[in-house]
Amino acid sequence: YVIGVDLGTSAVKILLVNQHGDVVLSVSKPYPIINEKTGYSEQNPKDWVEQTTTGLFELLKGFDGNIEAIEGISFSGQMHGLVLLDENNEVLRPAILWNDTRTTAECQRIYEVVGEKRLLDITKNPALEGFTLPKLLWVKDHEPQVFSKVITFVLPKDYLRYKITGKLQMEYSDAAGTLLMDVSKKEWSTEICELLGIEPSCCPPLVPSHSEVGKITAEFAEATGLSKSTRIFAGGADNACGAIGSGILEDGKTLCSIGTSGVVLSYEASDDKDFGGKVHYFNHGAPNSFYTMGVTLAAGYSLTWFKDTFARDESFDRLLADVGSVPVGSNGLLFTPYLVGERTPHADASIRASFIGIDSSHQRRDFVRAVLEGITFSLNESIHIFRENGKRIDTIVSIGGGALNDDWLQIQADIFDAKIIRLKSEQGPGMGAAMLAAYGCGWFDSLKDCANEFLKEDRQFQPNKSNVQKYKKLFSIYQDVYTQTKDMN
Ligand code: XUL
Repeated sequence: YVIGVDLGTSAVKILLVNQHGDVVLSVSKPYPIINEKTGYSEQNPKDWVEQTTTGLFELLKGFDGNIEAIEGISFSGQMHGLVLLDENNEVLRPAILWNDTRTTAECQRIYEVVGEKRLLDITKNPALEGFTLPKLLWVKDHEPQVFSKVITFVLPKDYLRYKITGKLQMEYSDAAGTLLMDVSKKEWSTEICELLGIEPSCCPPLVPSHSEVGKITAEFAEATGLSKSTRIFAGGADNACGAIGSGILEDGKTLCSIGTSGVVLSYEASDDKDFGGKVHYFNHGAPNSFYTMGVTLAAGYSLTWFKDTFARDESFDRLLADVGSVPVGSNGLLFTPYLVGERTPHADASIRASFIGIDSSHQRRDFVRAVLEGITFSLNESIHIFRENGKRIDTIVSIGGGALNDDWLQIQADIFDAKIIRLKSEQGPGMGAAMLAAYGCGWFDSLKDCANEFLKEDRQFQPNKSNVQKYKKLFSIYQDVYTQTKDMN
């Protein structure tokens, strides 16, 4: 067996997986987000460790096999979150998360000091509020007494792993989202560190995702019931792990993952494509490869917001039950999902969402379909950028909350104009983490071999030609809404 630990934004999800890729047991343990001010989003690293420990303990209580048969553990983690440690590796302040948008001024400063082109050359990415370096600079400016004690910074799952092994590392796929790593050379950029006054020694050693990084401490083994001989592997960014867990491991493979945020992600064998910073370009969790990715900040979150605001007492199933009976285009209603700003393609933290075309005859189901279409239009912006840059996108694996509803999967096929594949008992990033452990343990010669054994297709959704045409027209109106509303705030 192997274990995949997915340290998400709302919960940690833990999977126990056998050698065929079947999930034998799973557990999920939530933790809160702290929103002290508008735009702030923080978490207590202590909560991650406590909930993972409790989760593993509960998982293993239900396991009747030999504990020694659990050979390895690996991790997937929410990206970009800043965890600051002092000289004793104690946490200095709450972690600032990927969806925190307080750092617009710091992004501006990064451009001024490093230069937009140079930043793109080194990191292959633009300066965005969600990334880690702007957060480091924010603490430097606003909390100098905290910053003066910083000896190391790490990302969420790397902190969790440190508490399990007592050893500090980061791995390439997550480090790529800090804006401090040279993505091609896979080393920390001393140039960026020096220009912005960050001690290069704050950046921990870098390792590949499948590398073995240490042993479980006696304390952690005792608290969870794990064997001390269980091998620990570095793991990857949640998007990299979501890609591994969906078999996005060769050219031509694309993923659509809709959780709180949503991403469209495409495999890249090399680092030499030029998307001009319009989409993210990160190291993959699979050795020596990359992926490009566009992000919709409020994807599943838009639907959750709608339900919490207008249908609090209903289940998602009930809310979505009538979507199939509403025609393409939601009877003239259009939604843009910019509830918390937007990443791709606008990189604009202050734009806000809209419903346009409301008619007195509209019913709730029209609004629900419009929300699903709006989220999917936003994700289609990323696909549009990929295609404009010569990428062929004709088959997309869809995972996450967006893959739980057949009507939404058909909407994806029609808006993306691509075949959509749903996987059998899809597990997302947690499965990718388990696969990194399986590969690290030597069960397979490659992650691709592991994917062939572990992942199975469930159903395909084909684009409907007439719907594709209707959506093409609506998409161009959708794109105009941003331009027309961006100066409202
Ligand atoms: C990616 C991003 C989000 C988080 C969610 O750049 O910010 O997808 O990884 O955990």
